[in-house]
This record gives sequence, structure tokens and C-alpha cells, in this order.
Amino acid sequence: ASETPEHDVIVIGGGPGGYVAAIKAAQEGLKTACIEKRGALGGTCLNVGCIPSKSLLNNSHIYHQILHDVKNLEGVKLNLTQMMKAKETSVSGLTKGIEYLFKKNGVDYIKGTGTLTGENEIKVNPLDGGEAQTYRAKNIIIATGSEATPFPGLEIDEKRVVTSTGAIALTEVPKKMIVIGGGIIGLEMGSVWSRLGAEVTVVEYLGAIGGPGMDADMAKTMQKILSKQGMKFKLNTKVLGGDVNADDIKIKIEAAKGGKEEQLDADVVLVAIGRRPYTSGLGLENVGIETDERGRIVIDQEYRTKIPHIRVIGDVTFGAMLAHKAEEEGIAAVEYISKGHGHVNYGAIPSVMYTHPEAAWVGQTEQEVKATGKPYNIGSFPFSANSRAKTNLDTEGMVKFITDKETDRILGIHIIGPNAGEMIAEGVLALEYGASSEDIGRTSHAHPTLSEAFKEAAMAAYSKPIHA
Ligand code: FAD
Ligand code: NAI
Repeated sequence: ASETPEHDVIVIGGGPGGYVAAIKAAQEGLKTACIEKRGALGGTCLNVGCIPSKSLLNNSHIYHQILHDVKNLEGVKLNLTQMMKAKETSVSGLTKGIEYLFKKNGVDYIKGTGTLTGENEIKVNPLDGGEAQTYRAKNIIIATGSEATPFPGLEIDEKRVVTSTGAIALTEVPKKMIVIGGGIIGLEMGSVWSRLGAEVTVVEYLGAIGGPGMDADMAKTMQKILSKQGMKFKLNTKVLGGDVNADDIKIKIEAAKGGKEEQLDADVVLVAIGRRPYTSGLGLENVGIETDERGRIVIDQEYRTKIPHIRVIGDVTFGAMLAHKAEEEGIAAVEYISKGHGHVNYGAIPSVMYTHPEAAWVGQTEQEVKATGKPYNIGSFPFSANSRAKTNLDTEGMVKFITDKETDRILGIHIIGPNAGEMIAEGVLALEYGASSEDIGRTSHAHPTLSEAFKEAAMAAYSKPIHA
């Protein structure tokens, strides 16, 4: 293997965590490289996650809305090939955008698989199959992300038994789809195919949908809304296994507590039971870096492994598996390197589920606040009483504030409603600033906007709303 000049920082992985870290490091004046093995920048999020799924969610929503809500249109037909092309156009435009940003900031983009071979040394097997190269770096940032957790006994072929990667690339609308796992991927991808005409049944082990972290009230409301849209739910239900036959797939289920076995059939099964850290081929064992029982690379508060100049960010370590969380960590990890201090407020990372309506939340759920024993207030306001939502004929959902009863400080905000993902930004800022519900209630919100529902829910927490 030949050797190259030393870098200040080498980032392994070009996803939202890694590419942001690389750009930030270059902006800080550090000689930086980013190693990525998939042949495109942007990681899971841009290539097979956030971006393609949101393209399909947006277009399937428009199709569904035209078909069901606009009554006087005839001859509306689905063009799935076109929908997939639109998705690919968004993805390729954005990956090229990151390549451009790398060039603009002077980040060396190394295409290949990086393996740690020493505390300051990475061997790269190039994508094009050329000779392996050895790179040396003063600092290394690992950002290798995550992969879908497989379901034991159900082999993924990404055509009929799929993870989200296959689910964003189906070539026909399945007649029947079973989704194993009622978390965010299950509900987003289940929504896409349900809107396009599939009969979707979600099988969830727990008693609520939405995955870990969703407020119980919100999960119940969301389930009602999605059920009305045609999705079916089997909660408290365990999948025992499945048989993939030539004509269909049979999935055996039973009540989580045990009971009578039942069988469901489908032509496509989506496995969406969570994601796990990805470290295969990374060579952690060569340098003695540890992972925990869930495969997450162990780090301290400054993202350092036990080799202090090797730091880790994003899905491959602790915390929420979200693109914006990985990005924040990318910037903070670089600032630790360049300035000696960095900052991420883990109490104010928003979550958004891009169904229709969207669900979005930040801070604590009501069940978490209740568990602390601290007295609290709830203020909520329904979109059915909001003038803009009524004008848009889009009135499902509500805004819910949870505040400290003594101080009125906001503890959590939970929204189900049109554009909840945009609206939650105001809540995140409020939490960052340590705001009270009265701070929001006394802030002027333009009329007629959906955000008036946000203000009125805040008013409901410390006083009374006007319009409900
Ligand atoms: P990744 O994006 O996984 O990037 C890691 C990269 O490292 C990969 O490109 C991989 O090829 C590369 N790599 C791994 N090992 C090596 C190696 N040894 N050498 C070189 N390269 C390597 N999050 C949101 O916030 N919003 C959403 O709407 C959203 N939607 C999602 C939808 C789906 C279907 C999925 C699956 C995920 C979604 N996520 C969403 C989660 C989001 O994609 C992840 O949280 C995010 O991508 C994590 O970023 P990361 O940089 O840690 O890792
Ligand atoms: P998830 O953790 O959100 O949900 C998995 C669900 O599967 C949980 O409800 C869990 O109880 C259930 N489950 C686990 N094992 C099961 C079993 N054997 N049988 C039935 N149900 C089972 O994971 P998901 O949906 O796979 O998504 C992975 C991650 O990707 C998310 O946690 C999120 O961080 C990220 N993501 C974020 C999105 C967003 O921000 N909009 C969109 C998609 C993914």
C-alpha cells in the first residue's frame, strides 16, 4: 500500500454526520478528508432514507388528495415510474450538491471503504478496485451510521421481503403489505403504499404505534387518523415467523402475551423493527475500540473513544437515530478538535414523523413528566378550531403543551397536524431559550396561520385559549 500526506482530520462515512463534520473541519482551517464507500455522499439519509422517503410521501399525498378529496376530477391515474423518477432526481441533485460543497471547502473526497489499521492510520480499499492506500490523520471521526435490524428467520431480498431500502423502490403497488413494526419507518412507508392503493396491515409488538419517544395521547390520535385513512393495526402482537412462497408470503402472528396463532398473507412484507449501528469492516478490533451490547461505539461526552483523537458521531453511537442529531454532533465534535469545546442540547432535538398529518415533538412526553412526580399543566388546542386549517380543509390533530405547574417553563411540545414538522421549530427554539408557555401566548402570531393553534395551546397551558 502506498502512503499519502497526513491530514488533520479524516472522517469515515459521508452521511449527514460525516459530511457535515468534514465541511465544518475544512471551514475551521483543518486539512480534511472524508471516506465514503457507497459511491455517493449523503449516507443513508440522502440515498435511501429521509430524502427519497419524503419525495414519495409528498407525491403519494398529492395523488391521494386528488383522488379522494377533489371530487370533480376524472381520470386520475398513478404513474409510479414517474413518481420514482422524481425521487431519483431529488436524490441525485442533492448528492451532487454535497460533492460541490466538498470542492468549495477543500475537503478531499476519498471513494472507498476505510478500515482502521492503527491509532492514526486508515487503510482504504478504493471503490474502483485499485490498489489500497494508507492515510494518516491527527484526528479521526467515525460516522459509519446504521443499518436495518433484520428479523430472524425472514430473509430480506429487498423485492418481496424488504427493509425501507426496498420499500422506497417497489416497482408495483402491492395488493397486500404487512409491516412488521409500527415505528416511524413502518408508518411513513406504510402510508406511502396505503395511499397508492395497497391494503396495509401494521403488526406492532407494543400497545402503541409511533416507536419509542412518542407521547401516548399523540400515538392514540395518530392511530385513529391512520386507521381512517385505511391502514390496519395489530398491536400487542408478536410475529412468530414467515413463509415466503411463490405466490404469497404467510406471516404467523400471536398475541404478545401468548395465545392463538393467526396467519396473515401479503405480497410484500416490510421489516421495520429498528436500526442498528453499522461497524462492519471498520477495523475497531485493530485498535481496541469497544462497542456496547447494542453494537454502539462507546464514547465520552466529548465524542471520544478510549483513543482520544478518534471520535464518533451519529447513528453508530448513542442517542436518537436522526439526521439532524448526527449533524449537530458532527459540528460539535469538530469544535472539540479545533476549539476545545462543543455543544449539543440533547433535551431539544425535535422528532418528526412525515405522515399526513405530520406528527412532531420536542422535549418530554406526558408519561415521562408524570414519572418524575413533578406537578404539571397541559394546554392543548385542536386544529379543528383553527381558521387556516378549516380554510385548507385539513383540520385533524392538535397542539399539546406540557409545562411545569410551578414555573410555567415548557417541558414538552407535541403536535399532530398539517406542517407539524415546520411548526415544531418554534417549540425547539422555545425550549432552547427556556421559555414559559406565557412567553409563547404573549407573542403575536400572524392570522390566519396554523401557528395560531400553537399560540392558543400555549395560552391553554397558563390561562385559557380564545377560540376553543
Ligand atoms: P449514515 O447516514 O448511515 O451514513 C453513514 C455512511 O457511512 C454511509 O453512507 C456508509 O456507506 C458509510 N460507511 C460505513 N462504513 C464505512 C467505511 N468503513 N468506510 C467508508 N464509508 C463507510 N432522519 C431524520 O432526521 N429525518 C428523516 O426524515 C429520516 N428519515 C429516514 C427514513 C428512512 C427510510 C431511514 C432508513 C432513515 C431515516 N432517518 C431520518 C434517519 C437518518 O437517515 C439517520 O439518522 C442518518 O442518516 C444518520 O446519519 P449518519 O451520518 O450517522 O449515518
Ligand atoms: P423504530 O424504533 O422507530 O420503531 C420500531 C418499532 O418496531 C417499535 O415500535 C417496536 O416496538 C417495534 N418492534 C420491534 N421489534 C418488533 C417485533 N419483533 N415485532 C413487532 N414489532 C416490533 O424503528 P424504525 O421504524 O425501524 O426506524 C428506525 C429509525 O430510523 C428510527 O428510530 C428513527 O430514528 C429513524 N427514522 C426517522 C425518521 C424521521 O425522522 N422521520 C423516518 C424514518 C426513520
